[in-house]
Amino acid sequence: MAHPVKIAPSILAADFLRLGDQVSEALQAGADFIHVDIMDGQFVPNISVGPVVVEALAPMVHKAGAVLDVHLMIEEPERFVPRFALAGADIITIQVEATKDVLGTLKQIRVHKARSGLTLRPKTPLLSIQAGIPFADVVLVMSVEPGFGGQAFLPESPARVHRIREWLDAAGSKAELEVDGGVSVKNASLLAEAGASVLVAGVSIFRANIPVADAVRGLRAAAESSPEKP
Ligand code: DX5
Ligand code: ZN
Repeated sequence: MAHPVKIAPSILAADFLRLGDQVSEALQAGADFIHVDIMDGQFVPNISVGPVVVEALAPMVHKAGAVLDVHLMIEEPERFVPRFALAGADIITIQVEATKDVLGTLKQIRVHKARSGLTLRPKTPLLSIQAGIPFADVVLVMSVEPGFGGQAFLPESPARVHRIREWLDAAGSKAELEVDGGVSVKNASLLAEAGASVLVAGVSIFRANIPVADAVRGLRAAAESSPEKP
């Protein structure tokens, strides 16, 4: 039996005409975090949403006692930390590749009373985030190339999660360890076993051809079950 995990539906895969209803359904089914992907067309070849969407979601997420988890896939994220904090982000996660001042930006996030998150592209060496770990309340392992939902899960990801779990435990860190990209009932248990504490999921929650609430519960159940033996 793997340990309990938190479930973080990623709204990138939601029906934006019915965004409020879909997020509400996820929250009622027990979603712990709501994950919002911010893309600037520079750091990644895609554009998504900005602070006004975070602002619109914040009251509903906070009323449910859930966490608004904002993932910045933007160049020089330090320019926008105050704006997203003001919009109601509880976690602000930056890409290690996107700023010259990783430690300064993580500290800046905390100064703005949000939890600081640090993430990296799948091909970026894990060592690049090591110095940031003492300043991070959340470490996020990207298990697809950032920029788009619905991509295939990269099989090397559980080993990367496991390595970071070892670092966090060795440092006595209580940081959340999130995984983002291609997460589904097929790999949830493996990721939990590897030491993930939060599973981000877009397509497998909002485009699974089953009710959103069932998808949230199903992903949690899969994460907390034993991994299938090969
Ligand atoms: C990708 C984003 C992810 C994305 C995950 O750049 O960071 O949060 O929404 O989507 P799925 O779960 O569909 O791979
Ligand atoms: Zn994300």
